[in-house]
Amino acid sequence: MTDFLDNIRTSYDTVAVSYAELVVDGADWENEAFDLLAKLVAGSGRTVLDVGCGPGRTTGLLAERGLRVTGIDLSPGMIEVARRDHPDLNFRVGSMTALDVADGSASGVVSWWSIIHLPRDVVPQAFAEFYRVLAPGGVLLLGFHVGSESSHKTSGYGGHPMNIHVHRWTAPALTELAVAAGFAPYVATEIPHDRLLFQK
Ligand SMILES: C[S@@+](CC[C@H](N)C(=O)[O-])C[C@H]1O[C@@H](n2cnc3c(N)ncnc32)[C@H](O)[C@@H]1O
Repeated sequence: MTDFLDNIRTSYDTVAVSYAELVVDGADWENEAFDLLAKLVAGSGRTVLDVGCGPGRTTGLLAERGLRVTGIDLSPGMIEVARRDHPDLNFRVGSMTALDVADGSASGVVSWWSIIHLPRDVVPQAFAEFYRVLAPGGVLLLGFHVGSESSHKTSGYGGHPMNIHVHRWTAPALTELAVAAGFAPYVATEIPHDRLLFQK
């Protein structure tokens, strides 16, 4: 377990500053997904967790929708950039495989292009954590690359060295794991970049 987390952490520490410069907001499918999440959790008063928040881009988009949000990322470098770019928001270092969050305390969990780096057999552990921290009726929003291949990424975001794996997923495969963790499917929309919504 430690090796892959160390590799993800070191890789994203290396690219954190350039990632923040190169990855920008604004895709319609991203805005639509976050709008829907915001509508579903509105008025709950509980926190939405942006798990694998990177430099806080997604955390900022969720906050803009009136949500109380906490960004969590494995990479201290990413959290440093997130705090720099979004000084009013809450961020902390942590892993989705063992969240330092109380049971039933969140209204939503967003994992936006972050479970893609977990070994496939570790995803159930993350889903169990997402289910544990959500209050009843809470929602889980997933973004991921569609497919079934895995690739080894050795550089990125301006040619910086990386040592991570990117695992593509199909909607049925992720749905099976989410249902096994206790979730009910809410919407499943297959688009070039997929997103899936589940409810506890
Ligand atoms: C491709 S970036 C996505 C960042 C952000 N969600 C976005 O869409 O811009 C993937 C992020 O997931 C984080 N990550 C990967 N595995 C993680 C884990 N086990 N726990 C927390 N964060 C993780 C990485 O450090 C990285 O910042």
